[in-house]
Amino acid sequence: MYKFPSDFFWGAASSATQSEGRVPGDGKGENIWDYSSQQFNHRFFQGVTTENTSHFYQDYQGDIQRMADISLNSFRPSISWSRLIPDGDGPVNPQAVIFYNQMIDELLAKGIQPFINLYHFDMPMAMQEIGGFENRQVVSAYVRYAKICFELFGDRVPYWFTFNEPMIPAEAGYLHDRHYPYVVDFKRAATVLHHTILAHCGAVKVFREMALSSKIGIIMDVIPVYPRSQHPADLEAAEMADLFYTKSLNDAILKGAYPAEIGLLLKQYDQMPMIEAGDLDVIAATKIDLLGINYYRPRRVKARESVPNPHGVFSPEWFFENYEMPGRRMNTSRGIEIYPRGLYDIAKKLQVEYGNIDWFVSENGIGIQGEEAFIEDGMVQDDYRIAFLREHLVELHRAMSEGSRCLGFQMWTFVDCWSWVNGYKNRYGFYRLELPSGEKSIKKSGLWFKEVIENQGFN
Ligand code: BG6
Repeated sequence: MYKFPSDFFWGAASSATQSEGRVPGDGKGENIWDYSSQQFNHRFFQGVTTENTSHFYQDYQGDIQRMADISLNSFRPSISWSRLIPDGDGPVNPQAVIFYNQMIDELLAKGIQPFINLYHFDMPMAMQEIGGFENRQVVSAYVRYAKICFELFGDRVPYWFTFNEPMIPAEAGYLHDRHYPYVVDFKRAATVLHHTILAHCGAVKVFREMALSSKIGIIMDVIPVYPRSQHPADLEAAEMADLFYTKSLNDAILKGAYPAEIGLLLKQYDQMPMIEAGDLDVIAATKIDLLGINYYRPRRVKARESVPNPHGVFSPEWFFENYEMPGRRMNTSRGIEIYPRGLYDIAKKLQVEYGNIDWFVSENGIGIQGEEAFIEDGMVQDDYRIAFLREHLVELHRAMSEGSRCLGFQMWTFVDCWSWVNGYKNRYGFYRLELPSGEKSIKKSGLWFKEVIENQGFN
């Protein structure tokens, strides 16, 4: 029997832009996703925009009942900055206050702990127009927004998170041309990341000053890195991938300082972000209470087989290449490897290298294209999702039995949702969303998870 603690958090995660939808007259301001899914519609799978979501704004009561039906005891939605403060830094939208108050109250009434995330990739358009996180004024606006959230909802929310995967908007929006504003410039990406870290620090500071009894943390996607071989060149490549994509952020948040090696490298290549006097002290002084880890896949790397163009755009990929390991197990819908052992390795890393901090799995899951092919007797028979979950939970259990302080497991996601770039291509939910009707129905994995929660584990 894989038994989990009786106070273990079992839940699911979601995000405002991916689930809420927009209703005429709701007072919500535009964010970069509302804008880019309209203006750069061809970049989105089947051209689906943020208008077409699972309608959490209107159906939150129904969804929270569905959560209770499968015995979830925690849920991590995000607040939409542009719904609460339509222009990012001005007046508060009273309808949003009503909505988030009702949503939080409804969760609590159903015995589901709200884990509230303040930012899930969704910069208000008015803030993006003045430079987004490249502009320090936006850092201040974010801290003001966080403070308003703590003031409005802080009496009832037990767990707060400043950001979901802060590396992604910097990397996907400013280096890899996947998210708006579609910039390809390492130095600007590094500045966005640095300012995001400062925004996190500012929100934590305000939170501490308010002396709330709740806890605050951040959600990070830690991708464990594996070298192709033990050859020194492959090991060095793995070090570099880890340094740029994981340690740069993790060390700043969890150890209070950027790794020295990255500073030297960025100076050498003239890629230092805009760091002002005092920034590093702010980072050093900021401590979180709880860490969320999103885990989907490993990163396998090898030494480069060609010399990068020294006149091209600087990129971490100058120092390594991705490695396609023969025999790897793939989720072909998303084009990523399935590697449950990676979750154990992350847990051990947190235990050994990051002071055994309290943490939880804030996202894990498998997105499948064409899931309707698995409908039998009116239900998605997603045995692949059950197997995926089971294998990851076994690895997590192993780490916990060796002392890892993991407090919970939240699945991505509760009901199939719209996704950045991918629209509705890959389905992740415990509940299926029928399009265009919007009908929601439980999948086999939802029933399996309910049983796991009720038994506090599985055989
Ligand atoms: C996570 C994000 O990294 O991946 C979610 O936090 C996202 O917002 C999820 O939906 C799955 O990604 P995708 O692109 O397969 O939908």
